[in-house]
Amino acid sequence: MLTNIILFIHIIAATTWVGGGLLLFGMGIYFKDPKVQHTIYTAIGPFYGYFQLIWITTLIITGLLLLNQHDVYAMFLTPEFQQSEFGVLLYRKLLIVFFVVCATALHMYISLKAHGRERTQKEKIISRGSSMIIFLFNFSIIWYAMNISQYFV
Ligand code: HEM
Repeated sequence: MLTNIILFIHIIAATTWVGGGLLLFGMGIYFKDPKVQHTIYTAIGPFYGYFQLIWITTLIITGLLLLNQHDVYAMFLTPEFQQSEFGVLLYRKLLIVFFVVCATALHMYISLKAHGRERTQKEKIISRGSSMIIFLFNFSIIWYAMNISQYFV
């Protein structure tokens, strides 16, 4: 029961985290006028940033709790686990999560630093690059999550 409650929160956080990213990405394509885009991103940017921070933190906490519920910590560093298909999938998922967290931190840093002013060319490239990494890597995290869950019965 407890595992299911934690998994429920984990999945709600995952849908919100990934769905929020998709929504913002879609808005970027739909609203082509730079002035409209500037108005939208200036207005919702900080809210979106803090909102997503809550969900990525929830994902990490509930993910760590799920590993505990499934007694993964006891075998996490053993060679057998590292060489098993399950171990490889879990390591890959966690590595991609790590990249997404780093890209999120970088993206937030640039956004907060440049809030209220025009971003420099370098800031624009880093900001767009990091959001593209988050956007694309999220899909592979979901893919690995689906495959990993088959090992928990
Ligand atoms: C961006 C971050 C993450 C996303 C989008 C995500 C997404 C998901 C999703 C959608 C599932 C459900 C898969 C299914 O039931 O078919 C899942 C399961 C799981 N996730 Fe994550 N996850 C993230 C981060 C993490 C982290 C950081 C950990 C561990 C530290 C973790 C550990 C787990 C575990 C152990 C399960 C399987 C639970 C079970 O089936 O009982 N996740 N994840």
